[in-house]
Order: sequence, then structure tokens, then C-alpha cells
Amino acid sequence: MDARLPQHIAVIMDGNGRWAEQRGLPRSEGHRAGVDALRRLVRECRSLGIPRVTVYAFSKENWQRPETEIRFLFDLFLRFLREELPELMEQDIRLAFIGEEEDLPFPVRRALEYALRKTSGNRSLTLTLAISYSGREEILRAVRRAMRSGLAPAELTEQRFRGFLYEPGLPDPDLLIRTSGELRLSNFLLFQSAYTELYFIPVLWPDFQAAHLQEALDVYAGRVRRFGRTSEQLRP
Ligand code: FPP
Repeated sequence: MDARLPQHIAVIMDGNGRWAEQRGLPRSEGHRAGVDALRRLVRECRSLGIPRVTVYAFSKENWQRPETEIRFLFDLFLRFLREELPELMEQDIRLAFIGEEEDLPFPVRRALEYALRKTSGNRSLTLTLAISYSGREEILRAVRRAMRSGLAPAELTEQRFRGFLYEPGLPDPDLLIRTSGELRLSNFLLFQSAYTELYFIPVLWPDFQAAHLQEALDVYAGRVRRFGRTSEQLRP
């Protein structure tokens, strides 16, 4: 395994609205183009041998958007879950989910559960969708679950705590990419990104291409990850 190739990439797919506005199109067209960019990213990661991709599709805070946009987005998620399933199976891609499943409209929930079950044996790549997701909410929920579990406070190790998060098996992202030029995490994977390398790119999400991913991977490969140690300690 090439240590300079990230094993888990997290992506904040930002800029769909601006992409559409720049073209005089409704914001929904930006989201539609965003799905194409997501498809490209997943295919590219799979062919490069990156086994984990986690994308921020809808935050808890996004519920404050106009109802028509929310409805459009959930229609898009529903269509994605139904129409991409054959391709996910063919490409051996497992789907996973993080977020408040109870918040999702019933048809989306049903399609999601079906797709999760159907793809559960796939191994080439795991695509985790974050929908109605909030990093702070995930941590609070984990604390509540830990308290209810009856564990003594001293027994709550980091490893056990991870077991109470939305997807206990989710490894920490090695690289987090945010498009559109914004320089913040916006409540994404707060617990898991403690030592993640961050990469911000001014390109709007629908314009994100394989070449941009390669650029991010090159930058990542050049970074020294010390995890709190000195450079000297890292020398072989
Ligand atoms: C942020 O851009 C994007 C979103 C809130 C939606 C992300 C959804 C997709 C890319 C669709 C594909 C996802 C799946 C799972 C099928 P923005 O609307 O905030 O853009 P702006 O900042 O330019 O307004």
C-alpha cells in the first residue's frame, strides 16, 4: 500500500448554487451537475485504489434552506439511490450513511435502507453519504448513547467512544477536500478530522474534475503527517 495515497477522502461538495447562478440557471441545475461530479469522483477514486470516500450531501443546518430547494435535493438523493444502484453493484461499491436517518422523508429512507442492504457485500470502495449530518450532533448523540450504555466514565476510551458514532467502522479521513474557496469545516466530521490533512480549492463543485483530484493527491503526498510528534521522531 502506498502510504502517500490517502485511504479515506472526505469531501465538502460546495458551490453548486454559485455554479448555477453564474450561468443564469436555477440552483437546482447546480445540484444536478453536482451529482455528475460526485459520480466522476467515485469512479476516479475507485480506479486509483482509494477505498473510502465520504461526502457531505446535506447538513443539519441545510434544513433552513427554502422548502423548494430541500424538496429538490431529496428528490435528487432518491433518484440517485434508485438509479445508481445497478452501477454501484457493477462497480462493487458499498454504500454507507451517516446522519439523522429519522429526519429523512420516508421514500428516501426506504430507498437508502434498500441500497445499504443490497450493497453491503461490495468491497472495491465504500461511499459514505452524510445527509442531515452535524458533527456536533454526532458527538452529543454518542455521549448520550455512552451514558445510557451504563459504561463507567473511566471505561469510556476513545476506541469505545468511536463505537457510539454514526458509523463505528468509519476510519478517520486522511484528506478532506472542500471546493468553492470557503475555508471552514462547517460541522463536518469534527471528531474524525482531528489529524486530517485539509485541502481547499476555489473550483466550484460541479467543475471538479479528475485533474483537481490529482492535484489534491499530489499536495497530500508532499505533506508530512506528524500526528503530534517531532520531525526527528519520524525519521526511520
Ligand atoms: C453545497 O452547495 C451543496 C449542497 C448543499 C448539496 C450537495 C449535493 C450534491 C452535490 C448532490 C449529490 C449528492 C448525492 C448524494 C446524490 P451550495 O448549494 O451550498 O452552493 P453555494 O454555496 O454556491 O450556494
